[in-house]
Parts: sequence; structure tokens; C-alpha cells
Amino acid sequence: MTERIVQTIRTVPLIRDEIAARRAAGATVGFVPTMGALHAGHTALVERAAREHDVVVVSIFVNPAQFNRAEDLEQYPRDEAADVKAAGAAGATICFTPSVTEIYPADFASSVQVRGPLTETLEGQDRGVGHFDGMATVVTILLNIVGADVAYFGAKDAQQALVVQRFVRDLRIPTEIVTSATVRDQDGLALSSRNARLTADGREQALAISAALQAAANAISNGSADSPEAASAAGIDRLRVAGITADYFMIADPLTLEPASQLSGTLLIACAATVDGVRLIDNLTVSANREAATANC
Ligand code: PAF
Repeated sequence: MTERIVQTIRTVPLIRDEIAARRAAGATVGFVPTMGALHAGHTALVERAAREHDVVVVSIFVNPAQFNRAEDLEQYPRDEAADVKAAGAAGATICFTPSVTEIYPADFASSVQVRGPLTETLEGQDRGVGHFDGMATVVTILLNIVGADVAYFGAKDAQQALVVQRFVRDLRIPTEIVTSATVRDQDGLALSSRNARLTADGREQALAISAALQAAANAISNGSADSPEAASAAGIDRLRVAGITADYFMIADPLTLEPASQLSGTLLIACAATVDGVRLIDNLTVSANREAATANC
């Protein structure tokens, strides 16, 4: 991948003008929204966008509206210079780095809300639907500002990607949403900006999360579990051995996120747990057709 020259733009009028000029010259636009703290999961999305588009916009904006704990927002890692460099090395052409007031002026009064199981289960049940209201609102604003052909999201945040797909469809936002596979370290840990806050021992303990998802997937594929509850128990047991109590461990329909009532078709196994004071989420998709069972994200 050739490193592109990255332009850093901080205001809405400037980025709109820049994108309009590039479009007038015939460019297509890919978009990767981030909150910074870029890791290989983000850069894989940027690289994919760069393979598929002439212009790649990466937004770097820590969105206060989607944090439900003030200390989580405060502790969120921020290093704009490093993020811009990483985005450029992965093929970004523009980094959009707005201030909080650029996105939320003092008289900002609107909100995008998706209701139903998509936002009320899993993270919604645990963190409250307000998290998704904040995420949906900022992503709508960013999609409206950038006007990309395609926006890229990671499958580690499977619920977020489904929520985005839903409001983009409902609100007729003319950007295609693409979800790309979770990037993992070699030992299975799903990449996350929050991993930087794990101690060495915490990181070791956190490996139990992907192992637990795999244990549940195996129980489904080798037939040792005959119900979603039994498959979940296999995962929860793996977590217990590592001294972890899950915030949730659930087997769900991968499109609606409703709890699975039986082991058939494609299933999403999703888990959230706090390890070493850091809340982590991960998931796998598994086919419950025994011979074809694969964990694929
Ligand atoms: O996944 C994230 O980093 C954030 O939720 C997003 C999509 C950039 C919105 O703030």
C-alpha cells in the first residue's frame, strides 16, 4: 500500500468543499468513522476502503454522547498525531478531526434513535439504549457530512453495525454500509482500542473471552450442546475457569439479535465482560449445521 498524503480537516464547510471538489474530478469516496486510538482492526478497514475508493476519509472523533460513564470518556486514549499517521500509512487521504462543538454546537437538539431488540438487547440492556442513541446520532451526522459511497464498520461491534444498517435503511441515507471481519491478535484476542488499558495479566485473562466464544461454537458444531442454553453454558464455564463473570453471554439471531430458541441456521455468539477494570466485547458467527460449522468473524 503506497502511503498517501493525508490532509487533516477540522470543520464541516472545509471537508464538504474538499469532497465536492474530489467528486467533481470523478473520485469515489470511502469512509471509516473512528474514535481514534487506531489499531490494526481500524487500519484493515482503511486499507479495504483504499483498495475500493479514490478518496478515503477517516473521522477521528471521541463522541461524548455515546459514553455512559464519565470516567470511560475521560480515560479514552487520544493521540491525534499517531492516528493521522496510522490512517495515512493505511491509505487514508483525509482525516476529519472535528472539535466537540463542531459536531454539537451549543444549541444542538436532535437525536437518532433505533428502537426494538436491535438496541434493547446485549449492549443496550447492559449500557442502556442511550449508548446507541449517541452512536446513531453521531454516525448520522458524519455520514451526512462526508456523503461517502461506502462506509466501513468492524464486525467486532456486530450490534453497532446492525444498528447503523437499520437507521441508514430507515432514514434513506445514500451510503452503503459494509461490515468487515474482526481482526484478532495471533492468540485470539479481538483488537480493541480498550486493550491498551489491560495489564499483562489482564490481557492474559482476557484471552478467555475469545476462548469462551470458541467453546460455545465448538459445542454447537460438535453436537455436545443441544440447546442455546447448553452452548452458552459451555462458554460461561470457560469464562468461570478464568475467573471472569460475563456481563452477558448470549446466542442470538445474527440479524435481529433476538435470543436463539434453537440451534439451527447461522447464529451469533456474543459476549461482554469486564477484565482488569476494562470492559471488552467480542462475538463469533457460527453455522449450526454441524458439518459446516465455522466461526467466521
Ligand atoms: O465504533 C466506533 O469507534 C464508534 O462507535 C463510531 C462508529 C466511530 C461512532 O462514534
